[in-house]
Amino acid sequence: MPLIAVIGAQWGDEGKGKVVDLLAEKADLVVRFSGGPNAGHTVLNPYGEFRLHLVPSGIFYPHTRCLIGNGVVVSPAVLLEELEHLQKKEVDTSRLFISNRAHLIMPYHTLLDKLEEEARGSKALGTTRSGVGPAYMDKVARLGIRVGDLLDKEGLLSRLRFVLKQKNILLTKVYGTPPLSLKEIHHQYCQYGDRLAPFICDTEPLVKQALERGELILFEGAQGTLLDIDFGTYPYVTSSSPVVAGAFVGLGLSPTKIDYVLGVLKSYTTRVGGGPMPTELRGKTGESIRQIAHEYGATTGRPRRCGWFDAVAARFSTYINGFNGVALTRLDVLDTFASIKVCTGYKVNGDIIHQFPNNSAVLQRCQPIYEELPGWQCSTTHLRHFGELPPPAQSYVKRLEELINCPISIISVGPRREQTIIARPIL
Ligand code: IMP
Repeated sequence: MPLIAVIGAQWGDEGKGKVVDLLAEKADLVVRFSGGPNAGHTVLNPYGEFRLHLVPSGIFYPHTRCLIGNGVVVSPAVLLEELEHLQKKEVDTSRLFISNRAHLIMPYHTLLDKLEEEARGSKALGTTRSGVGPAYMDKVARLGIRVGDLLDKEGLLSRLRFVLKQKNILLTKVYGTPPLSLKEIHHQYCQYGDRLAPFICDTEPLVKQALERGELILFEGAQGTLLDIDFGTYPYVTSSSPVVAGAFVGLGLSPTKIDYVLGVLKSYTTRVGGGPMPTELRGKTGESIRQIAHEYGATTGRPRRCGWFDAVAARFSTYINGFNGVALTRLDVLDTFASIKVCTGYKVNGDIIHQFPNNSAVLQRCQPIYEELPGWQCSTTHLRHFGELPPPAQSYVKRLEELINCPISIISVGPRREQTIIARPIL
């Protein structure tokens, strides 16, 4: 059985949660490999509606094991709250495994995320303020504290004493805030450790065994390619690698094992937080998309910036990840529009370009070149086969395939599992 990666191809919020929830029905293992509680995967299923920040979206299937890999940064407080909520809804959480190598989000990370954002003033990145950036900074600076450290209370105290000394200098001398208490943080994280202990383990052997048994493994991407620390719109990016390459270091697995990379693209574009977005619609049309689709951040509640589909950006993501196929989500959101635009190139400094610029300042100056396609102006939410889609909707999908140079395998026409069209088989 194969190994499938589900990867966000825009600026996050593409609907990966629904796609993973759908594919997880047949999966034995669902794995998160990057990001942290900044993610908000919305899943609507018979248990109810959920916004998952850390727990993989496969948790709802009784046969599926879920794994939080070493590449994830874990906030114990967020994770425990999420587990409690799932347990209250009678979802069995005993099949969750957390890598002992994953790094922890500590109270100084969330505090520094807020203070750094405030200090950036008008150049703020618009982070989710969940401490993700500062936690990854510490990982790379070799100042991190890992999930496995929670299991050794003495070791944790000694490590925390060393790290907190530096953090408190930063907090008091640079930001003028009171120091954090070693005793309080240690006590709190020992309690977290006691509660999370049953979930913590070496996760690499679990993936290895699943591969050896020929089980179906799903990688659940978080955020999106255009937020990638290397390939996104730097510096308006997250601090991890949401691209498929991130999965291999985020789990401890060889790239030769992957069978299928499924990109997830929304039928239009959204972005939350700062940074360039060439197809952003600031007027009535953008507001209509936001209202129809209820485009508000799952983690922060912030209104998402909305715009037409950007085929230049999507083509770039397709190349970077080598998508074998795409899941096109939220097609139904476009049901009422008389005409629909697609950005096929950019105009910048008098030139027309078809490559996604590597520089945010250049991207900021890019004006979209649009192709206008007829809308279909009827509901698609009840349709289950590609041939049933109104002809203009079929043409829209086919045009996107041409522009991004990748087959569209799945089309989502509503939030529920069954509101899905399988246009081409995956594998
Ligand atoms: P951070 O990841 O909280 O540091 O935020 C950095 C940027 O990534 C901000 O623009 C956030 O809005 C954005 N971001 C982070 N996670 C997500 C996500 O799951 N969906 C959409 N945007 C995200």
